Parts: sequence; C-alpha cells; structure tokens
Amino acid sequence: MFRVKSRKKLDVLSNEVFVKALVSSGRTCILVSEEDEEATFVEPSRRGRYCVVFDPLDGSSNIDCGVSIGTIFGIYMVKDDHEPTLDDVLQPGKNMLAAGYCMYGSSCTFVLSTGTGVNGFTLDPSLGEFILTHPNIKIPKKGKIYSVNEGNAKNWDGPTAKYVEKCKFPQDGSSSKSLRYIGSMVADVHRTLLYGGIFLYPADKKSPNGKLRVLYEVFPMSFLMEQAGGQAFTGKQRALDLVPAKIHERSPVFLGSYDEVEEIKALYAAEEEKA
Ligand code: AHM
Ligand code: MG
Repeated sequence: MFRVKSRKKLDVLSNEVFVKALVSSGRTCILVSEEDEEATFVEPSRRGRYCVVFDPLDGSSNIDCGVSIGTIFGIYMVKDDHEPTLDDVLQPGKNMLAAGYCMYGSSCTFVLSTGTGVNGFTLDPSLGEFILTHPNIKIPKKGKIYSVNEGNAKNWDGPTAKYVEKCKFPQDGSSSKSLRYIGSMVADVHRTLLYGGIFLYPADKKSPNGKLRVLYEVFPMSFLMEQAGGQAFTGKQRALDLVPAKIHERSPVFLGSYDEVEEIKALYAAEEEKA
C-alpha cells in the first residue's frame, strides 16, 4: 500500500510548493515525494541534472497540536546525458550528494550536509535569510537519551527489546537513559544530533520493514548522522548501503551517537550467531 496516513491540507500544499519550485528551478530531472505515488519526470525544456527525493511535511499528524514538523530531502545527480529513469534514484544513500531537513518549530532551522560535515542555520525573519548558527555539528559519541515509540514494544524483535531494556535497567553500573519521543522524525532526529543518543524506528511483527521510508526519511537522516560522526544501521547493514527496489520502500532504522548504534549492532550480531 502506498500510504497509511490521512493526508492533511498542509501536506498537499507543501507538496505543491516544493514540486513547483523544484521544477521551475530548471535544475532537476526527477522528483520523488512522499505525497506522490509516482515519481515526477521533469519535461526536457526545464530539465537539469539533480534528482530530489523529499518528504515535504514530515510528522504532519502533529500539525494540529503545534508540535515541530519538518521537510526532509536528499539529492542525487545524474552523471551523464542519458534519459533519466527511476534507476537514477533507486540508488544507495551513500551516493547522495547532499541531504538535510528544515524544522518548523519555535524557530525555523535548516540543517544541511553536502558531504563534508553538517551545518545548521536559523531563519532570521527580519532579514529573510538563514544564518549559520550551528557550524560543523558533531553528534556526541555517547548519549543519555533514547527515542522510540514504546507502544510497539510487544511486537519488537529480541535485539530491540534488549537494547531498550538496557536503557532502562543498565547492568553495568551506568545511569538509566532518558526517554524522549515526539513522534515527529525531524524533531526527534534534531535533538539526537545536538544532544546525542539514539533514535529507533525498528521492525516489528506487524511492520516487518518498519515504518519509515528509505529514500526520503531513512537516507537523508542517516547521511546527516554519518557526516556528524554518528552511525545509522537497519538491523542488518549500514543504512546508507541499502539499495531500494521501489521509491516508497520502507526500512527499520537505528541512528544516532556512534557508541549507541555500536551497541545495537552488537545485539543484532549476537542474535545472528545464535540462529
Ligand atoms: P509521516 O511521514 O506519515 O508523517 O510519518 C512519519 C512520522 C515520523 O515523523 C515519525 O518518526 C514517525 O512517523 C512516528 O510514527 P509513530 O506514530 O508510529 O511513532
Ligand atoms: Mg514522512
């Protein structure tokens, strides 16, 4: 099934704004939006080399209660003059040229990586400009926060359940971690990037591929995490090595501080050894 959420007015409007702006820029050739079942192929007269994959308004179930929501995007480039095809976007995330998000909250924050680190900008509405307020963001190597929808716990697999149990009841004398979960990926990932910790959207018995979409949720956030010194893992492999077979494919994801993701990786490796 293509979509599970109910579409909000702002989902539709934001998609129109992004598609129109990207097509009229003359720089794009393929657009993949969470809101559109099919990819958009830009007509030859307005075509450029970039493929943009995006979720125009992620976390839109939070709109009506004023919680932060955001736009997530990743950019690929078509390298030669061939006629663009879906294969140009069905590529591993490590091939992205750039990725980022914009968060609409108490301020408007833009976080971007072009493959040489991560920078954060804040909109100054009086100037109409984004100001570099968070240069060279590095995620703390370890973190004290975990972020997951615990309501799904009864359906989790062993490694996810064990990791979360360790967060709450550590056996090594360390303090328990704090749980923070907004349910708006941009806000949860932004906090993880700045404060450290881990964000999990695992597979579970009801959703064996997790919930989040590979191209415009998992890849851009994984790209940013790696560029900031963290990691992103699917439960089986490095997230950015995945090769999506379809544009709205989903994947489980564990991303955040290097050491936290390392722990998850060890738990999955141990599970595999047992099998
Ligand atoms: P959406 O693209 O339909 O808005 O869904 C994605 C959102 C993410 O922002 C968030 O991480 C996740 O869904 C929360 O899902 P859940 O409500 O299952 O915890
Ligand atoms: Mg989304």
